This record gives sequence, structure tokens and C-alpha cells, in this order.
Amino acid sequence: MSRDGAALAVGVDLSSAVDAAAANLGQRANVLIAQGDIFRLPFKPRAFDVVYSIGVLHHTPSAERAFKTLVGLVKPGGTIAISVYAATVRPGVPWALNIFRRQAWRVITKRLPRRVMMWWSKYVVPVFWVVDRIPGVRYVRYLFPVLIYKNYPLEWSVLDTFDTYATSLESRHRPKEVFRWFREMGLTDIDLMDSDDGWVSVRGRLPLRLA
Ligand SMILES: C[S@@+](CC[C@H](N)C(=O)[O-])C[C@H]1O[C@@H](n2cnc3c(N)ncnc32)[C@H](O)[C@@H]1O
Repeated sequence: MSRDGAALAVGVDLSSAVDAAAANLGQRANVLIAQGDIFRLPFKPRAFDVVYSIGVLHHTPSAERAFKTLVGLVKPGGTIAISVYAATVRPGVPWALNIFRRQAWRVITKRLPRRVMMWWSKYVVPVFWVVDRIPGVRYVRYLFPVLIYKNYPLEWSVLDTFDTYATSLESRHRPKEVFRWFREMGLTDIDLMDSDDGWVSVRGRLPLRLA
């Protein structure tokens, strides 16, 4: 957003993730990084031309309520776009089994102390990352709460194992449910984006004249 010429790009997160964002982007003249809760953001209503959120709303107590709160920040005629986890069994049976496996493990892992999952992600995931390269035994990883990306740096697997299994709140949503949220807020030009499997990404526009 900053590179593409936004007058001001404001980035928000609840956690210390804002420190990394500020270290990466904070020196840009048109960037402001703020730490805050979506449900209590310190911005004037209808302040933004565009509001977007990727991978955050489904980690709040109510993705629907979080979305509806964000709509209040959009100017008339402005755009809002969100990406949330999909509730889907597509693209097929292995996919669905993997989601089920992950949800079953999460019943335990999300309740473990964070430092245990941090330890697991840092020290055990690298072992599975190597095992994943060995034909024949590589599938053993499906028996454990790990997420391994074969073709990406090890760090990605470490981070996403922690993100997937230690996160306490996670919800999943169907495209028609997200469409309904947009319609209920009076948005127009609602569009389902062609996002990756596992995601529902929807964009809409606030009418110029609000009802
Ligand atoms: C999976 S990360 C996605 C981060 C980033 N949007 C991205 O695409 O890389 C989910 C983020 O949601 C943030 N989050 C959870 N609840 C929040 C809330 N109520 N307000 C703001 N951020 C929240 C967490 O701190 C976490 O950094």
C-alpha cells in the first residue's frame, strides 16, 4: 500500500508483531504502525478509503463482529476486503482429513503452555523438516502436530507450526456466510476473490450515500 502510493498506510495488530512491522516499514514517510485491538481502534469512523485484513478476523472471539467493526472505518464509496480461514472440505478427501487431524491436535495443543509449543516448534519441527526429505518415512509427520513446507526455508515451518497449533482462537467460515456479513452491512459490488485453497477472501464497497 505504501509503495503503491497510499497517502497514509496504517497497519494494526494486537501483538508485538507491530514491532517487526515497524522495524520493516516504519521509516517510510507514509506508514504508520499502531498496536491495538480491532474492537477498540483509536481511529475516527469513516476515516479510510480502503480497509483490509488478512488472516486476523478468524483469530478473534467473533470474526463477524470484528468485520462489522472494521466496516465502520470505511469512507462512503470506499472498499473493504477480508481474508478468513475457509470451512471447507475442498479440494478433496486428503485435504479434509488433514484439517480434521489438525483440529483434533489443536484440542490439546492450544491448551498447552505457550513455551511448550514454542520449544516444540523450535526444536522438534527442524527434525521433521529433515525427516520430510526421506522417501518412505516422510509421512510419519502426519502423526504429529507439525506443519512442514518442503520447498520453503525451515523458518516458515517453525513459525506456521506455532501459529497453527498454539493459537487459542480459530474459526472457519463459508463463502456464503461471509457474503451475508457484507450484505448485512449494506455493501455493494461484493466479490469473492480467487484466493488460495483454505481461504475465503471477499471484497465489497460502501455505497456513496449511506442509508
Ligand atoms: C496469523 S497472524 C496474521 C498477521 C498478518 N495479517 C499477516 O498476514 O501476516 C494473526 C494476527 O492477528 C492478530 N490479532 C488477533 N486478534 C486481534 C485483535 N483483536 N486485534 C488486532 N489484531 C489481532 C494477532 O496478534 C496476529 O498477529
